[in-house]
Amino acid sequence: MSMMVVKCLAYLVALLLLLLNYGANGHRVSRKVLDYEKQFKLLQKTSVTTIKNEYGDIYDCVDFYKQPAFDHPLLANHTFHPEMKPSSFALKEERTISKEREILSNNMKSRGKGCPTGTIPIKRMSKDDFIKMKRFTEDYTSRTRSNDFENHFAVLQTTPNPSKKIYHGAKGIFTYHDPKVSDSQYTLGGLTIMNGDDTIKAGWMGGSSHCFNMLCSGFVNVNKEAPIDDVLEPMSKRWGKIYGIKLSIFKDPKDGNWWLVIGTENTIQGFWPGKIFNGLANSATFVSFGGEAYGPVDQPLPPIGSGYKGIASPDDAAYVLGVTVLDENLKEDYNPVETETYTDDPQYTVTDYGWSNRYGRIMFYGGTTPV
Ligand SMILES: *[C@@H]1O[C@H](CO)[C@@H](O)[C@H](O)[C@H]1NC(C)=O
Repeated sequence: MSMMVVKCLAYLVALLLLLLNYGANGHRVSRKVLDYEKQFKLLQKTSVTTIKNEYGDIYDCVDFYKQPAFDHPLLANHTFHPEMKPSSFALKEERTISKEREILSNNMKSRGKGCPTGTIPIKRMSKDDFIKMKRFTEDYTSRTRSNDFENHFAVLQTTPNPSKKIYHGAKGIFTYHDPKVSDSQYTLGGLTIMNGDDTIKAGWMGGSSHCFNMLCSGFVNVNKEAPIDDVLEPMSKRWGKIYGIKLSIFKDPKDGNWWLVIGTENTIQGFWPGKIFNGLANSATFVSFGGEAYGPVDQPLPPIGSGYKGIASPDDAAYVLGVTVLDENLKEDYNPVETETYTDDPQYTVTDYGWSNRYGRIMFYGGTTPV
């Protein structure tokens, strides 16, 4: 396997879908290439130093205050700083992850020395790639707003409920995989939290031609050690070792921000500021765990998860251990009952395996391995 193949396996992603919610005057929709060029130039100018990972990716260490998150108009007068932390780990209770089952947790330790204090790593890319990536992120946002036949899902989700149950966060340990996708497809696995038009997601992404990263404005990175679009490795292997990453997203009751905390060591990655949201300014009304994919209709369905059907077979399917939601009273619910499985196509399957004393709540998902 060549280096390039390894490099493009899967990246960690933190996404923010806010197309319709960019202030009342809707600047957002009119942002186009000119803006992107300006943003690109700004990034170029603000690199303090660089670091390089073993795959040859170069990361610029950019001044915390110059990170793209702060392009967001509603963050014009922010008082954020590089030492910010959540006031408490709202999602804290740990469940042992099975070394026995060889679901190994990737803690996203920095490889090498990380960036200097007061800066954060941002992957260097060409202007063309930067613009392509920005456009892709916008397309992604508008695409997920439409119910067309190109978006696919295999998830365990909270039941849309008349009692208007609300959530303050969620977490799980997500296995990550390297299913084959075409250049015009992508596949994502992870955690989604929504209220109305506000959506935040964190997870892994396969499909090398569309590596998103943290450059969408809104996500504030406070981790100088690990970039948000880090390469996930080692990679899970069918019949071999399976690797997963713990992801927690929760709303800090004090500062109102939605924090992303990664790994079993609870590494603070960053946050989506509460003040950029409408619905999520209060709480979430929907949480989902699992996979989604995109592919043009004239192609075979894109793979979700490992590509293998989400039957209860950890050697084949992608899965999530310790499915947990944080309820309206900031209490962790390790075995939420108001949930349902959902797929948009019978070629994808989801199994809600239920409770296991060792692993907590488990769900399996995926399908459509190209043969
Ligand atoms: C930031 O502060 C300026 C000056 O006080 C004010 O005009 C502007 O509305 C503020 N913007 C935001 C997003 O709070």
